[in-house]
Amino acid sequence: MRKKVTVVGAGFVGATTAQRLAEGDHCDVILIDIPDKEGPTKGKALDMMESAPLLGFDAHITGTADFADIKGSDIVVVTAGVARKPGMSREDLIGINANIVKSVSNEIKIHAPDAIVIMVSNPLDVTTYVASQVTGFPKERVIGMAGVLDSARYQSFIAMELNVSMRDVNAMVLGGHGDQMVPLPQYSTVSGIPITELMDQATIDRIVARTRKGGGEIVNLLGDGSAYYAPSASVVEMVDSILFNRRRLLPCAAYLNGEYGLNDLYIGVPVYLGPNGIDEILELKLTDAEQQQLRDSAEVVKATVAEVSL
Ligand code: 2OP
Repeated sequence: MRKKVTVVGAGFVGATTAQRLAEGDHCDVILIDIPDKEGPTKGKALDMMESAPLLGFDAHITGTADFADIKGSDIVVVTAGVARKPGMSREDLIGINANIVKSVSNEIKIHAPDAIVIMVSNPLDVTTYVASQVTGFPKERVIGMAGVLDSARYQSFIAMELNVSMRDVNAMVLGGHGDQMVPLPQYSTVSGIPITELMDQATIDRIVARTRKGGGEIVNLLGDGSAYYAPSASVVEMVDSILFNRRRLLPCAAYLNGEYGLNDLYIGVPVYLGPNGIDEILELKLTDAEQQQLRDSAEVVKATVAEVSL
């Protein structure tokens, strides 16, 4: 039997995620949105199904507004919520998105109690915390998608700057999914060679700054809404590692209980992802400056969590 992945929210991020999962023939997909959007949700799912003979996949995609349909999901990806507009920070979304995430988390708890939850809604580290609290699932089964996306942006900027293949670039971004994120040049390489050997400090600083504002750059260009091609590809990378037991080492928002000197929050750190979700958190050696940046980023996450009534 094929694995089953639910994508909550049939907007651009959700629909693109469903499409990528189906086209990869990774799993059957349930695409779910609110009753007001039942028609468009079913329409998108059917449209994707009708592409299957052309693209050669057997995955089944179901559009629905009924949470009973998510029963038996191995993974639930939550993209529900509003996206920011130019001039807004991700943290500005908490007022609306916290309530949406609470309600979705309750449904997941009832209908898919054994699922691994991957959060995508912003502000990411905070919505992941909310989902963890509301579902009460073991911490390793509630994970936030952001570090993979932030690292992909960082990798693409490095590859474009050096005019090298994207395939040869590996990079690591820690911290919250906000402007205080912590790109790590010392752990970012081209075919194993640290970028500190390949670029001067001013160039690295420019790329780090662009990475921190990477989501906002897209928001400003789109004018209405936020990125979805790279976010959906990032979700698929995580789903793939979980479904196929790859134990990829990926930066994800994970619950910290003393790791990196931080407690009781979700924030981006490198984790091994396997069939049970987070197998293990890797504690990297950080410089004092990087550790301080991580603490600063954690402060922003904690301050936003404090705005949510749980
Ligand atoms: C981004 O960084 C939407 O937060 C997402 O593009």
